[in-house]
Amino acid sequence: MNKKVKIAVLVSGGGTNLQALIDAQKNGILKSGKIELVISNNSNAFALKRAEENNIPFEIIDKKDFEEKLKEILKSHKIEFIVLAGFTAILPASFVKDYDKRIINIHPSLIPSFCGKCFYGIKVHEAALKKGVKITGATTHFVNEIVDGGEIIMQKAVEVYEDDTAEKLQKRVMEFAEWIILPQSVEKVCKNIIKEKS
Ligand code: GRF
Repeated sequence: MNKKVKIAVLVSGGGTNLQALIDAQKNGILKSGKIELVISNNSNAFALKRAEENNIPFEIIDKKDFEEKLKEILKSHKIEFIVLAGFTAILPASFVKDYDKRIINIHPSLIPSFCGKCFYGIKVHEAALKKGVKITGATTHFVNEIVDGGEIIMQKAVEVYEDDTAEKLQKRVMEFAEWIILPQSVEKVCKNIIKEKS
């Protein structure tokens, strides 16, 4: 049996995407990789409670010397694959280049719409409603030096309703798109990593 890929999940907020990954490990959707570590830049992130409840080690790294500390922690845990799940900081290009096709992100729109530096969290859904799009959704993609610019892995569409508020739309996109394609994308990439290593 091939060894599972060692995964670190980077979080900053509620951790609902982390929870989707934890649940996917339990229900067999995520079987080629194992969440070995959760890392946050926010000591108050509820995502850390989710890690604790599921006996997943976690680390908090503050802004100062972030890149160096991150490299150290990833190395000590022998991490092979990084998942950004509601992570708010932008990883420096100097870090990203050492992890080519080994970092993925979940973005709450159908890239290339409503993505890039100014589009994150609720702002994405506010922009979608302002533009009047009838379909939105979520995208998983590899992370490179361009914010939300890496190769797309999966997308899932969600209909926009007439009476949607940004909050209602965000909840629907998370539930019917993000929490579905993120585990599937992580499993897909882990399977490819195992194939490459064999
Ligand atoms: C989600 O909308 C996600 O798409 C974005 O961050 C928000 C919070 O995610 N990247 P989570 O609940 O912390 O996983």
